[in-house]
Amino acid sequence: MALMLRPWAFLLFLALVSYDESGLQSTRNGVAQATQRVFLYPQSPKVSSIVSTKYRTAYHFQPPKNWINDPNGPMYHNGIYHQFYQYNPNGSLWGNIVWGHSVSTDLINWIRLEPAIERTTPSDINGCWTGSATILKGGRPAIIYTGADTEKRQVQNIVFPKNVSDPYLREWIKPDNNPLIQPVGQGLNSDQFRDPTTGWIGPDGLWRIAVGADLNGYSAALLYKSEDFVNWTRVDHPLYSSNASTMWECPDFFAVLPGKNSGLDLSAAIPNGAKHVLKMSLDNCDKYMVGVYDLKSDTFVPDTVLDDRRLWSRIDYGNYYASKSFFDSKRGRRIIWGWTNETDSSSDDVAKGWAGIHAIPRTIWLDSNSKQLLQWPVEEIESLRREEVSHQGLELNQGDLFEIKGIDTLQADVEINFELTSTDSAVPFDPSWLLDIEKHCREAGASVHGGVGPFGLVVLASENMEEHTSVHFRVYKSQEKYMILMCSDLRKSSLRPELYTPAYGGFFEFDLEKEKTISLRTLIDRSAVESFGGGGRLCIMARVYPVTLINGGTRMYAFNNGTSTVKVPQLKAWSMRRAQVNVRMG
Ligand code: FRU
Repeated sequence: MALMLRPWAFLLFLALVSYDESGLQSTRNGVAQATQRVFLYPQSPKVSSIVSTKYRTAYHFQPPKNWINDPNGPMYHNGIYHQFYQYNPNGSLWGNIVWGHSVSTDLINWIRLEPAIERTTPSDINGCWTGSATILKGGRPAIIYTGADTEKRQVQNIVFPKNVSDPYLREWIKPDNNPLIQPVGQGLNSDQFRDPTTGWIGPDGLWRIAVGADLNGYSAALLYKSEDFVNWTRVDHPLYSSNASTMWECPDFFAVLPGKNSGLDLSAAIPNGAKHVLKMSLDNCDKYMVGVYDLKSDTFVPDTVLDDRRLWSRIDYGNYYASKSFFDSKRGRRIIWGWTNETDSSSDDVAKGWAGIHAIPRTIWLDSNSKQLLQWPVEEIESLRREEVSHQGLELNQGDLFEIKGIDTLQADVEINFELTSTDSAVPFDPSWLLDIEKHCREAGASVHGGVGPFGLVVLASENMEEHTSVHFRVYKSQEKYMILMCSDLRKSSLRPELYTPAYGGFFEFDLEKEKTISLRTLIDRSAVESFGGGGRLCIMARVYPVTLINGGTRMYAFNNGTSTVKVPQLKAWSMRRAQVNVRMG
């Protein structure tokens, strides 16, 4: 193993991790934002300017400049994918929100169009906020979105394409009857009433949508019904509500077939055996419940109700929010998009002139156990792969670092399979860790020797390891099964001060008898590190701003720091080409 190092320096640097969490977040609508601090760049000769274009991603979705947040109304229509997004046309902080609009034929390369919905009427003059697209009978799309009206009340509005035969659907018309839905009725709060879902048809032939709301202090997905998609009445019960959480932003409701990665169209007949998923955005992350849609009571009934919302499953355990899915009728799959904010400060964002990206669109489906959603980057992303390096039969002993060379370490796609040689030294799992997994990731960092693990990947590392981001696993024994911890540890990701650099983490169950290897796929895209563990069972999206990325080359390693040896039967990595993301106007 010629390239194998015994990197004592690596261990030393990892051991120097800081537990300081200053610079943590303030919130905007419950959304994580780095605390605003004003300081000049460069801070020291070592720290080069954050305005460097080198931090801009090469193949993740973003407009050329300004602020973006939630993905809105994604859809496939007449051969074209549409992606809309919350966009501030005037700057790189949240405000003046309109719907940006881009189109694509492959979900990877995007053409930017004029904003589709702008603040032009009394019912959206203070903001055109999040909403969803629905393809109506006859193939006519409609978008229902939240408007902040003249009094800053949240109301629901509709738009239709001016010309359905325009392949790009550039212009959208607001009918005179907006707003369609007002925040009226008992227990409703006019500033907690937003983000309508895609519509679906119930057994009575009527359309339904759900709207996120605070109802008498409960978080709720309110249910509305309509015959014509324009005149809506509120159903006397919500689709689902809970007193265990804060208001749900951006609810998403969809059907899935356990164990099948083909998607379902919520408006079509739902086959027997299908389950339903309710996703909600709260606490800076996207959580979901799997259950059934009970047609009699017209409610969503979760299979399991957990009173402590810290235990609710998450779409992604990192920096990922306000996701929205759609049925891709071209390929018969469900695709989910999420927003990933910057983790620098607002003053950094003003200096950079841009803020926010979207995670890579992911195919999403339900595991055959009906408990867990699985996600995988859409396969179109593989068209960006260039140089490939591949290694077989590696063995990583405790303290080994294996350098992955021969590809562009700033824009890469890496797939590694880890095979355990023994689980004898696996430490028992403690369920209390589930209540604060980030804390556990901080305590059990990459430098802390374990039984089985930590093993994984180190990316965007400086030569001396002073800066690095690790994505790694630990294996714990839990009665008959194993629990795998996956962490994405950003605490040493940058020498730049004042960044938000948590150690993200989540757990997933694993049957080591059935599946011999634990897989890790990581997409590295300059300031984005997007990881998929256990074949898509656990996803962690992260933003990092290493100074090394600007000043010189970064390195990438596979490593093991557990006492038990780990085999790597297969490691593949590719350089990723730059995609054409909104570089030209259509
Ligand atoms: C989620 C959110 C939505 C709202 C939109 C406004 O990030 O707060 O609830 O509609 O952003 O931009």
